[in-house]
Amino acid sequence: EKAQIGVTGLAVMGRNLARNFARHGHTVAVHNRSYGRTKELVEEFGHEGAFLPAESAEDFVASLERPRRVVIMVKAGKPTDAVIEEFAPLLEPGDMIIDAGNAHFADTRRREAALKERGLHFVGTGVSGGEEGALHGPSIMPGGSPESYEALGPLLEDIAAKVDGEPCCVHVGPDGAGHFVKMVHNGIEYADMQLIAEAYDLLRQAGGHTPAEIADVFRGWNSGRLGSYLIEITAEVLRQVDAETGKPFVDVVVDQAEQKGTGRWTVQSALDLGVPVSGIAEAVFARALSGGAEVRAAAAGKLPGPSAGAGAGAGAGGADLQADVEQALFASKIVAYAQGFQQIQAASAEYGWDIDPGAMAKIWRDGCIIRAKFLDHIKRAYDKQAGLQTLLVDDYFLDAVSGAQAAWRRVVALAAEQGIPAPGFASALAYYDGLRAQRLPAALIQGQRDFFGAHTYRRVDKEGAFHTMWGADRNEVTA
Ligand code: 6PG
Repeated sequence: EKAQIGVTGLAVMGRNLARNFARHGHTVAVHNRSYGRTKELVEEFGHEGAFLPAESAEDFVASLERPRRVVIMVKAGKPTDAVIEEFAPLLEPGDMIIDAGNAHFADTRRREAALKERGLHFVGTGVSGGEEGALHGPSIMPGGSPESYEALGPLLEDIAAKVDGEPCCVHVGPDGAGHFVKMVHNGIEYADMQLIAEAYDLLRQAGGHTPAEIADVFRGWNSGRLGSYLIEITAEVLRQVDAETGKPFVDVVVDQAEQKGTGRWTVQSALDLGVPVSGIAEAVFARALSGGAEVRAAAAGKLPGPSAGAGAGAGAGGADLQADVEQALFASKIVAYAQGFQQIQAASAEYGWDIDPGAMAKIWRDGCIIRAKFLDHIKRAYDKQAGLQTLLVDDYFLDAVSGAQAAWRRVVALAAEQGIPAPGFASALAYYDGLRAQRLPAALIQGQRDFFGAHTYRRVDKEGAFHTMWGADRNEVTA
């Protein structure tokens, strides 16, 4: 008997993906650099389905039916290249290597092109949902050629999360499209987490609530329009009490957020594409600020805050604050998603991927970390209008931000008055005001550029490029 699919790299994600395939009735070849892990998997979970353990790469490849489907689940970067180099020479034309790790999409493009020359398919695929998702149904975002999806798609769809029977898996687009979309998913994840953290901070510092009380607030929000996995687990984390000290868990954890890099990549790519993903950037920088222990220590005792009692007016403390923060959170979240989707659309145009943004919203409705009720509305927005410029002008979201506007402004003002950092809320609101502005001060910047560098400017009333002779008679000339 041969295996329909193989998984190499059996740390927790790889192991759980392999088990998921086996639980769905597929025979799975399993391989790991050290055989111990492979043996363990089969000993512990062999009863769940059909596994073909292989000690060597050669045996592993030989146990696969053709075209061979080899899923690699190792660390992004050099380890991935090393595993590709180990397996590619053993494969035959038409076989495929599937990289299910969090690779950078540029690496995926490079690998796909190189393996295509050798007659192999390379599929970079996003897989989201953590350990539990990998086992019980992740959201899957495969790139690569359409032919590879024909041979691989049905297996991936089998193990993916389902919404109303429909799999959270779709062919995203060629070469690096899948990993790109996964990267933006993680960028949005960063933004979402930052906004939730700011909401908590405001309720705690301005509202004077305990973590346990705030957990209840989040639990309440979770049954409304904010309903999502991240809101749900936030309530769980806030409710947790440290066994050793009896203190709230959040108070015993070092307040420095770490990152493995996907959020940073999202912002780097957005800079290249010229898409303002300010919400994601603020989230990445907020983590960096939190991690800057030395600079924080140098500043903490020195930089003065507002005088006591400042900002006590604006809904502080009362039920109004909770309602206001819910509005600010929802509106800022909409901005972050709007920015992320704009980035996907820009990349799709830049790299010729032809990504359907509505399909991305559809496969993020379950399985992944950013799964949320409101993704249904994003899907619907793109179903209505595929070329939507920004989610903010879709009826549902327009309604939501219009309704949230006053509260959103109160929350940002309160944070500023009380000296509570809320970069996510504030920058989302600034983005919103920037987008809706009839005139931006960018005109002045054009004037400054022309002044010091003769960079020229365009006029509102006629075609062409112009320059003012700033150093001479200050008359305008056509450039
Ligand atoms: C997912 C997660 C997953 C991982 C993040 C964590 O979709 O399942 O996003 O990919 O947990 O990369 O990222 P940081 O360590 O950078 O916070």
